[in-house]
Amino acid sequence: MLTQRANNVYYLAARKFCFRRLVGRSSCQLARTLTTSSVCSNPLQPGPSLKDFLKQPIAASVERDSDVPPYFDSLEARGANQRVFFEVYGCQMNVSDTEIVWSILESSGYLKTDDIFKADIILVVTCSIRDNAEKKIWHRLKQLRAMKRKRRDNFQIKIGLLGCMAERLKHSLLEEDRLVDIVAGPDSYRDLPRLLAISSSNQTAINVMLSRDETYADITPVRLNENSVSAYVSIMRGCNNMCTYCIVPFTRGRERSRPVGSIMKEIEFLSKSGVKEVTLLGQNVNSYRDSSSQESASNDVAKLAKGFKTVYKLPKGGLRFAELLDQVATVDPQMRVRYTSPHPKDFPDEVLQVIAHRKNVCASIHLPAQSGNTQVLDRMRRGYDREAYLDLVRHIRDILPGVALSSDFICGFCGETENEFNDTLTLIDEVGYNVAYLFAYSMRKKTTAHRRYVDDVPDDIKRDRLIRMSQVFRRRADELNRRYIGNREVILVEGNSKRSNEFLFGRNDGNLKTIIPVGELPVEEHSNFRKPIRTGDYIMVHVTDANSQVLKGQPLYHCTI
Ligand code: 5AD
Ligand code: SF4
Repeated sequence: MLTQRANNVYYLAARKFCFRRLVGRSSCQLARTLTTSSVCSNPLQPGPSLKDFLKQPIAASVERDSDVPPYFDSLEARGANQRVFFEVYGCQMNVSDTEIVWSILESSGYLKTDDIFKADIILVVTCSIRDNAEKKIWHRLKQLRAMKRKRRDNFQIKIGLLGCMAERLKHSLLEEDRLVDIVAGPDSYRDLPRLLAISSSNQTAINVMLSRDETYADITPVRLNENSVSAYVSIMRGCNNMCTYCIVPFTRGRERSRPVGSIMKEIEFLSKSGVKEVTLLGQNVNSYRDSSSQESASNDVAKLAKGFKTVYKLPKGGLRFAELLDQVATVDPQMRVRYTSPHPKDFPDEVLQVIAHRKNVCASIHLPAQSGNTQVLDRMRRGYDREAYLDLVRHIRDILPGVALSSDFICGFCGETENEFNDTLTLIDEVGYNVAYLFAYSMRKKTTAHRRYVDDVPDDIKRDRLIRMSQVFRRRADELNRRYIGNREVILVEGNSKRSNEFLFGRNDGNLKTIIPVGELPVEEHSNFRKPIRTGDYIMVHVTDANSQVLKGQPLYHCTI
């Protein structure tokens, strides 16, 4: 629906219920819905399709030649040579999305700058997962607006808000006295050149339409940090899990998988560009299904292991995650492959077999538990209980004895009692994680928890529980990481250590940060020829020390995976 609002704001209403209602209508009904003043006198006359509607220019007042096709040809030029500065918050998915955005803008004639003071356009890629993440971004937007007003050419600078906060806060963002000039949700990045063109005529433009099938499959992301040895590759978007505490299904929409051909093309390109490590990204990578692929080994519906259940219909047919992982691993045997995040509810043995048999698929698994208490897990709608999770961990360790595990935990979820919380502490203790991300629960509007439960654990208790989780985690991680002392580990060097230029850091197969001194090493084991250690090299390291966060070691020689 195209609605003009006060202050010259043109607003593309994108609430999901509107979208569903629109797609369910005939073209004539649609025409009536979309052009508020038109009257559909002849019911047989064809109206515009939804596609036409989406391609219409939002702001009627934007000038263009009357005989050129709408809108790119005439408006796109307005962006030529303007410099864009990106500020990225939140998860790896946001980094990956920003690379898609940059690809779209670069091919529309925009330039990128790393200096915010030289930028014509500042794009803030946002995260909504917890209230404090949003508060931080809100504060930053106010700073940016103040900065914009101070600049003499202030009307030239445009501020855009992208990502998860776009859908959630579209109303307040626009109402707050021109805090931003454009708002674009995670599925509307293709529309950015047009939104920016509209904003250049000093109007605010917004598109937060969520899509059922957008995967940006035809867009090759352009890396923000071309010197980095690792890259993120998004394999799917959205999430269907509907964990009761989580806003992601609302901000990022329904789950959809990117076709395997497009993923493979990107991985091959990254390998040729010298990338040594790729991380496949998705909210729920194990439910990856490329139904466009003819290569599927199975036509079955995915099966869940005993003790696991799901609230949504499992996909049928299509190429599955284990097969994708295997294919990706064959592109370049000297390129490490990681992935995040799988959901414990569908962790098939085939994935474990790929990790066991492919040397370049890293033996580190992120297995977000969220809680160690069966009742809390049930209220969170995680689809498993404590025992099923522990069985899965035992099973993983049987197949991959040296695997490094990481997890996410939330404390203080609605109604969490002290006894229930203690089960989380004992789970962390029993499993033993090398890495963990620990959070205090933050109630999000729209979620099931917001409708169904009360956020009744006081803040000071949440804080106290967070500290106690962290203490148990650290003690166990310290023990586990110390077991590496005396081992030989292959590390991929990523760059200089933050603390000193005399040290480098890299990661071992288990994704543990490892610090080594700079220097020259034999080009291979037992060789008399030496060469310096550089970013992107694989180095064999003798681990000499460890704590809950890092390993430290003596580099021995250059090696391969
Ligand atoms: N409050 C606190 N933590 C949350 N997470 C997701 N939603 C919330 C919330 N409302 C955490 C989960 C998830 C990670 C990405 O963020 O642990 O795995
Ligand atoms: Fe959120 Fe659960 Fe989906 Fe993860 S799996 S993104 S926690 S709804």
